[in-house]
Amino acid sequence: MTSLRMDDVAIIGPGAIGSTVAAVLHEVGRTPVLYGRTARDDLEVLVGDETIRVPGPVRTDPVLVDGAAATVFLAVKATQVDGAAPWLAKLCGPETVLCVLQNGVEQVAMVSPHVPAGTVVVPAVVWFPAQAQPDGSVRLRGSARLTLPDGTGADRVAETLRGTRCTVELASDFRSVAWRKLLQNAAAGLMALTGRRAGMFARADIAELTRVYLRECLRVARAEGAQLEDDVPEEILAGFRASPADLSTSILTDREAGRAMEWDIRNGVVSRLGRVHGIPTPTSDVVTALLAATSDGPR
Ligand SMILES: NC(=O)c1ccc[n+]([C@@H]2O[C@H](COP(=O)([O-])OP(=O)(O)OC[C@H]3O[C@@H](n4cnc5c(N)ncnc54)[C@H](OP(=O)(O)O)[C@@H]3O)[C@@H](O)[C@H]2O)c1
Repeated sequence: MTSLRMDDVAIIGPGAIGSTVAAVLHEVGRTPVLYGRTARDDLEVLVGDETIRVPGPVRTDPVLVDGAAATVFLAVKATQVDGAAPWLAKLCGPETVLCVLQNGVEQVAMVSPHVPAGTVVVPAVVWFPAQAQPDGSVRLRGSARLTLPDGTGADRVAETLRGTRCTVELASDFRSVAWRKLLQNAAAGLMALTGRRAGMFARADIAELTRVYLRECLRVARAEGAQLEDDVPEEILAGFRASPADLSTSILTDREAGRAMEWDIRNGVVSRLGRVHGIPTPTSDVVTALLAATSDGPR
């Protein structure tokens, strides 16, 4: 049996993001316990020229967990939350802070039904790209950085990551930060539809489609309480146009690998919440339907 103490740190889903967080914790002597779907002896994370080896094993049987952890990081894809529910039920308790390392603006709503009463769920905006390599290692690209809402539970997460190479920022207006990132992810969804990388945003027709789509997203974001300026769509488009032409995005990588795509939390959410607020989202509706079919079929 795995017996956890309340000062333990657990990571559920040691993929690209989960492995990176595990590595930064291991570097400062706070090695987390790893829980995943695929058994592994250890994890390997590449940062520049360095290799950080995080000792495992990756445990794969929730039945063998017999106690809650103080801090849990959930880093499965949003499409995998239901599958990770047995881990959440075992590793979370009334004293646990659960930090959700996922894209989107609905982390708390999605995860809360799976945790016991009292667990504090803290969403995070993940700013760093990390990529699984063909040999199973993970490469961190850029500097590790998270933004959390400045509120209950965030202090525990910040304390857990204190002194690591992962910077934690606390935002008083987390909603706006999360929606700004969501708009960027929504536009990146167009890359998954075309099967093209960031270079496609140089096209005038794609640029105009992106503007129209993001203005729709902005109306929904504001109805949800996000404080975002009028020029956010243009800023996001400019960011893609200034990126290397071969820049990819995880939703495109998922499409290329034939995996389920996080279309609902990155794109579908705009249409769903648009309906709640009575805001027409014709472009979003088309993008969402095409992404859903691309991801989930049927053939
Ligand atoms: N990667 C990035 O650069 C990046 C950047 C910003 C935000 N994000 C967001 O961060 C989240 C995680 O993304 P990621 O790229 O790290 O995904 P990922 O590499 O696919 O990692 C997901 C991990 O969860 C594991 N898993 C799947 N089902 C599970 C279950 N039932 N129980 C336990 N573990 C399970 C997977 O195991 P297997 O090995 O068996 O598949 C994998 O290790 C997503 O919401 C993504 O959008 C990612």
